[in-house]
Amino acid sequence: MKKTTKETINIGANDVTYEHEESMEVGGLIPIGNTYVDSMEQIVNMKDQFSQTMDPILCMYNAAMNATTARLDIIKDEFRFRNLRCPIHHIDTRLKSAESILGKLQKKDLDLTLTVACNNIYDIAGVRVVTPYVKDIYVVRDRIEAQDDIYIMEEKDYVETPKRNGYRSLHLIIRIPVYFMGKKQLVPVELQIRSLAMDLWASLEHDLKYKNLYKESGIDFTAKLYECSRLIYEAEDQMEKINDLLEDE
Ligand code: GTP
Ligand code: MG
Repeated sequence: MKKTTKETINIGANDVTYEHEESMEVGGLIPIGNTYVDSMEQIVNMKDQFSQTMDPILCMYNAAMNATTARLDIIKDEFRFRNLRCPIHHIDTRLKSAESILGKLQKKDLDLTLTVACNNIYDIAGVRVVTPYVKDIYVVRDRIEAQDDIYIMEEKDYVETPKRNGYRSLHLIIRIPVYFMGKKQLVPVELQIRSLAMDLWASLEHDLKYKNLYKESGIDFTAKLYECSRLIYEAEDQMEKINDLLEDE
């Protein structure tokens, strides 16, 4: 028989109570005992131990990423089947590497252990949904939120309230059930939902930000980037209005 537990998890400022059948701890797959090393720093330097310990964890996050994509594909299929315009243009996925998980732990000044990583870093599995129009972002969000085995841990709406540099996107941290190696885990996935125009701006801004010349210039381009985003979104808004007129006909 499966055990049903009620658990209150502290996520940022909010306490969230979930009723669920297995542990919410994602670290359940981390081998416990002296044979393995839990320290991320040691792990990245120790190839054998590294793959023994890290592979099943990343496999689990990979499964969560695929499970999320499968849910999104079903949404796409439904719209296609109903002969309706699809609110999903395309889907991108990425799995954080062990090195990058370690880097994030260091940046956040957290203990360099896998347990801490699994319970504090929520974007190990990342899924990005790119929609044709802004209104589609909320169609996709509502479809995901309506699925009662997916838990929403966090929602940040940078569409309503863009960042200072002009970044816009809707971010959800969801927990999706994954059955892996005889266990059920509710694995966190970062879901970014944004329009094609938002994705264009974010991709170019990301490209610029990681160029050495940008860092070395010492110039603050925030206002310039914000202006670019305003122009892109103005054009997007005009095109969405044309689409609204056509869809209303
Ligand atoms: P962490 O989750 O701890 O990384 O920080 P956070 O919760 O403050 O991050 P946030 O939800 O604001 O952003 C998470 C992700 O969104 C980043 O890893 C990026 O992929 C994307 N993102 C956020 N801000 C920007 C931005 O200004 N430009 C671009 N290109 N991407 C951004
Ligand atoms: Mg975050």
